[in-house]
Amino acid sequence: MKITSVKAYQVFDSRGNPTVETLVELEDGTQGAGLVPSGASTGRHEAKELRDGVPGRFAGRSVLNAVANVNGALAAAVLGRDALDQAGLDAALIAADGTADKSRLGANALLSVSMAVARAAAGTRREPLHAWLGGGQGTLLPLPQVQIIGGGKHANGRVDVQDFMIVPLAARSYEEALEIAFNVYHRAGAVMRSRGLLAGVADEGGYWPQFASNEAAFDVLLEGISAAGHVPGRDVGIAVDIAATDLFRDGKYHLVLENRVCDTDAFSNLIISWLDRFPIVSIEDPLAEDDWEGWSKLRAAIGGRCQLVGDDLFTTNLARIEQGVARQAANAVLIKLNQIGTVSETIAAIRRTQAAGWRPIVSARSGETEDAFIAHLAVATNAGQLKVGSFCRSERMAKWNEVLRIHHQLGSRARFEIPEFRSSR
Ligand code: PGA
Ligand code: ZN
Repeated sequence: MKITSVKAYQVFDSRGNPTVETLVELEDGTQGAGLVPSGASTGRHEAKELRDGVPGRFAGRSVLNAVANVNGALAAAVLGRDALDQAGLDAALIAADGTADKSRLGANALLSVSMAVARAAAGTRREPLHAWLGGGQGTLLPLPQVQIIGGGKHANGRVDVQDFMIVPLAARSYEEALEIAFNVYHRAGAVMRSRGLLAGVADEGGYWPQFASNEAAFDVLLEGISAAGHVPGRDVGIAVDIAATDLFRDGKYHLVLENRVCDTDAFSNLIISWLDRFPIVSIEDPLAEDDWEGWSKLRAAIGGRCQLVGDDLFTTNLARIEQGVARQAANAVLIKLNQIGTVSETIAAIRRTQAAGWRPIVSARSGETEDAFIAHLAVATNAGQLKVGSFCRSERMAKWNEVLRIHHQLGSRARFEIPEFRSSR
């Protein structure tokens, strides 16, 4: 099934920043589109997104060169290729770029083509995207990690911790998980409003924080969970993304809000004290992206008490995941398509994570689009968990809603499970 047309153009993401959309067409007329998201707290080891950097044009953020690269070099590399051979297609994209970090043509350029071709392939096969991507093996609906309070780079550094999230442990179905998310999101908002703390929402839809300490945000979260009629720790667990790379300067971790500077050991001890005090089931990026020793030590100290997730640490990169497994540096991997830049490499990262007995968490970026590709990716691979931000704003709801549609489509084949977070390997 030959690719007969590849056309990219500049559209806009949820922050209003330019991004790439590619539309491909196959010889039977089937079309598929792919829109690329964009991070704010990006890891150093991510594949590189290409921005024009022209002053005076979208503050340097336009992506017209990436668009031109799709319409030129990448189109030339994939026109006439078989859309049903995703691995071959992605290999051709990688070869056309020729760099290890996809910086020549841009990971945003490559990914938009990779996603669009996957969609068109599913379309011509008359299969839902998840069925095509997963060879029909995907039946597990993901457990949501839902942001309630946003912070870090997504809220102008107003609290140090980037994501205060909930995990609906009492949910018996994906629908119940969303109901719990709804309850907690609105109740936590009401608690903040009653204290005069409500100041709008951050980039991923979680409440914009106005707290005097990071701990105060945990307290409001716990109040919101209780006010919603749920028992913290039993019905609803807490997940945090510390995004510690953004706190790391000159070899130290800086908690700006609390005017505290810690070395790796002191910062790890602070995280462990949070584990002791709050019903945390998952911790993401508690240490910086190259602090391998600190990660291994922290994992040993935490034991199986919670899920330990590497985001900036792994950047969905197979070699870094291999290194993490060898060093026993974590027990879960955040998965983001645009950190690595092709669909095939992303699926390979998920498979490697699962083969290690670790958990993949499919994730959105802080700059998102209406594209709900990742909902399909999560189900296709039986990843088991999905993190797309909060429970408002349509670029977030598009993903939660897409899983509802997939559930409807899978019918009684769909499964839903709560992982045993407290005995994470
Ligand atoms: P980002 O944030 O998309 O800004 O990198 C998401 C995350 O850190 O998980
Ligand atoms: Zn993260």
